[in-house]
Amino acid sequence: MITVTFEGADGSRITTQARPGMTLMEAARAASVPGILAECGGACSCSTCHVYVAPDFFDLLEPAGEMEVDLLDFAWEPDPARSRLSCQIVLSEALDGLVARVPERQG
Ligand code: FES
Repeated sequence: MITVTFEGADGSRITTQARPGMTLMEAARAASVPGILAECGGACSCSTCHVYVAPDFFDLLEPAGEMEVDLLDFAWEPDPARSRLSCQIVLSEALDGLVARVPERQG
């Protein structure tokens, strides 16, 4: 199992466990993390699953695809150094301990 932690904009933290192969968005939904709306269900067409990934883990991620990069333009206050769509992050053992901050709001 992979442990991931979500930090809310209010400083709250939710730590949960996920199976390899799940997306970070699926882990957030399973743990009822507030602020991860995921309106398109993971189809990479809404940007409401935006998170800021902690720097230690950001560099371990597969690079964002063209669709994700385009959608991040519509996310609320995107940060090119940390922003990703959580539905496009497939969890693996290498990402054990990942910390992601949920934006103040989506879209
Ligand atoms: S859930 Fe819609 S883009 Fe990620």
